[in-house]
Amino acid sequence: MKKLKRLVWYFIHGKEFLNSPIFIEGQKRTKIELEKPHSRTEVINFLLSLFNEETTYLEIGVRNPDHNFNHIKATTKYSVDPGLEFEENPVDFKMTSDVFFEKLNSNQVLSSNIKFNVVFIDGLHYAEQVNKDIKNALDFITEDGFIVLHDCNPPTEWHARETFGFFKTPAKGYWNGTTWKAFLKWRFNPSVYSCCVDTNWGVGILSKTHNIGKSISATNPFYEYYLLEENRKDYLNLIDFDSLKNILNSN
Ligand SMILES: C[S@@+](CC[C@H](N)C(=O)[O-])C[C@H]1O[C@@H](n2cnc3c(N)ncnc32)[C@H](O)[C@@H]1O
Repeated sequence: MKKLKRLVWYFIHGKEFLNSPIFIEGQKRTKIELEKPHSRTEVINFLLSLFNEETTYLEIGVRNPDHNFNHIKATTKYSVDPGLEFEENPVDFKMTSDVFFEKLNSNQVLSSNIKFNVVFIDGLHYAEQVNKDIKNALDFITEDGFIVLHDCNPPTEWHARETFGFFKTPAKGYWNGTTWKAFLKWRFNPSVYSCCVDTNWGVGILSKTHNIGKSISATNPFYEYYLLEENRKDYLNLIDFDSLKNILNSN
């Protein structure tokens, strides 16, 4: 009897779950995001193409390099990853970004004088870590260089959940983590220009010198997701890829 009750419960609530408007909306938003036309790779390669010189690129968090790193067009490329998600982990520096920057600062890897034209931050997707990666990367980009961040525009709070491994949400296996909070924190900072290309889960860009978007006054001190939902365009300075090209080609 107990077993039967449990089965009935599973059936009723499982059905409710799958048919709930929130679940359906979450799946719809995933589909919309997946259908957006441009990849992070295209955005990064466009930024690198702006330099009329040899370019140096750093990627933090690589996983399978065939998905992005191997397609990046830069004269010199470096990669950092502790190898948590891809066993082969064919990167230059098999370590976390914190260890990498510590070693870089003390000349234990590369040289503390190195400057990158583009640093792509796509490692541990928690706001605190992303914020650290941004701070560290700012010391190592050229004056006219860029920091690029993946996953700045989570389509729902389920995509922006903290628990990576729980797939029974409307986002299923898709995960952007809390990167958006770190990006938003830097949107509040007048020392950098910023925008987010509205494609491929939000490709955030920071620059010290290219006016790709002025900072906004700080609001949402608790980084509530519902306020991101209400103010997405303004918070992230969401623009399409063509607008980014227009801004930077006319700079
Ligand atoms: C989303 S994947 C990177 C995807 C890749 N950049 C791309 O565009 O296809 C995230 C990677 O970050 C790595 N990672 C996790 N924690 C890290 C950390 N603290 N520092 C650097 N990389 C980290 C993981 O091992 C994983 O390979």
